[in-house]
Amino acid sequence: MAQEDVFKKLVSHCKEYGFVFPSSEIYDGLGAVYDYGQYGVELKNNIKKYWWDSMTLLHENVVGIDSAIFMHPTIWKASGHVDAFNDPLIDNKDSKKRYRADVLIEDHLAKIEEKINKEVAKAAKKFGDAFDEAKFRQTNPRVLEHQAKWDEIHERYKKDMNDSNFEDLRQLILDCEIVCPISGTRNWTDVRQFNLMFSTEMGSTTDGAMKVYLRPETAQGIFVNFLNVQKTGRMKIPFGIAQIGKAFRNEIVARQFIFRMREFEQMEMQFFVRPGEEIEWFKKWKETRLKWHKALGLGDEKYRFHDHEKLAHYANAATDIEFEMPFGFKEVEGIHSRTDFDLSQHEKYSGKKIQYFDPELNKSYTPYVIETSIGVDRMFLSVMAGSYAEETLANGETRVVLRLPAALAPIKLAVLPLVKKDGLPEKAEEIVRALRLDFRCQYDEKDSIGKRYRRQDAIGTPYCITVDHDTLQDNQVTIRFRDTMEQERVPVDRLRDIIAEKVSMRSLLKKVIE
Ligand code: GAP
Repeated sequence: MAQEDVFKKLVSHCKEYGFVFPSSEIYDGLGAVYDYGQYGVELKNNIKKYWWDSMTLLHENVVGIDSAIFMHPTIWKASGHVDAFNDPLIDNKDSKKRYRADVLIEDHLAKIEEKINKEVAKAAKKFGDAFDEAKFRQTNPRVLEHQAKWDEIHERYKKDMNDSNFEDLRQLILDCEIVCPISGTRNWTDVRQFNLMFSTEMGSTTDGAMKVYLRPETAQGIFVNFLNVQKTGRMKIPFGIAQIGKAFRNEIVARQFIFRMREFEQMEMQFFVRPGEEIEWFKKWKETRLKWHKALGLGDEKYRFHDHEKLAHYANAATDIEFEMPFGFKEVEGIHSRTDFDLSQHEKYSGKKIQYFDPELNKSYTPYVIETSIGVDRMFLSVMAGSYAEETLANGETRVVLRLPAALAPIKLAVLPLVKKDGLPEKAEEIVRALRLDFRCQYDEKDSIGKRYRRQDAIGTPYCITVDHDTLQDNQVTIRFRDTMEQERVPVDRLRDIIAEKVSMRSLLKKVIE
């Protein structure tokens, strides 16, 4: 199945099974804003717990905070967001539609790449086993022509973006003959910078309302609390502060479902270190974070690092952890070595000294910072994409199964009476009552047992427990395993142990430190 179709199916699966709904749907939705449904919120909470515990339980020197979404507006001046958190925008005068200039060019580059890939696929089909792809790419005149065009556009585009040369960026759009997909014309406005922060007013206008922003990242709440936490927690460098919370960005091109949203959630950790030791810590956190992702068992080959060649002016190293989504490898997490930029800026703008006295070195300094920053929603999407499968069974039937890591699954076990009579429902409910303090259980008695299994497969429930007539005699049940569909007869008293071993957060966290 084409990857595009897989993605479409995943999006409708999320809606159909209560994971993610478009926000305000009965009012036709609100662009790039989504709500999590009854299973989505459980999965999301489990992802957050996995991250939170891995930061604050597995690292003695990492503590958490929960700072407010509203912060003093000068914070965003100090952080650079007021002046530089911009996207280059362009409007089509005929359709009145607004686009990100960089996205128009990137889409154009992707189309050229697609042409190259088509040539390669055609030749591969023609030559069969004898096909040498590398040689074909280096010698085929049509491929070379497309590649030369791609290189030329790409180089000019990168330079324009680096130099903030928006006049040439517009000219590049014209030279590439990019048309508006709605009007089909090339009647473009100038390219303008557009700030991505949402703002609102705090206080009534009569006593002078203050313009405040909805935070575009949670990190600044950590920086401005650095001294509070360090002093009250008697923290010694190196140490980290972790936070999970909402962030808001007025994204212009909001595409790909929950990949790019206007309201989303971040899990960020700022790790404060001695100046000069930051690269060593950057490398350590890179490895630690990749291990955290891989422990989920979605497939090691689905992850890769993308090291940044061009760094923000305040960073001295940066990398992304990318996951193979149905629409290609995409950033899920960023790891950045941010030097002492943020703390120094807040010292400058607040007029308060933000330094750390290092008793071992017997001197004060502004700590350097390694940041790990991951989007909850992107992580959610990567887990869903990595777990979704359509399978053809031996009997020719198909099943949709979410092979979610058991510790993240919204429902851990479903208890199913074989029939709705003869005391089986009562026995099943008794089992639910005995296990519900340990696991999120679901009782289901509607439809055939096969249909009930499929419903649980579709929401990723790792275990189904079937109660039959024999259960009433021998106090044993059939446990069915989601992934293998194998079934085993086990005593009711052993259920807790069998299930706990696989579904506990503890078992997942153990893999991170193995
Ligand atoms: N404090 C650093 C920071 O915010 P970022 O690369 O802009 O860095 C970090 O964002 C992570 O937040 C990204 O890797 C991504 O997972 C998530 N993220 C950023 N913008 C997002 C959006 N519009 N929708 C969903 N997730 C987003």
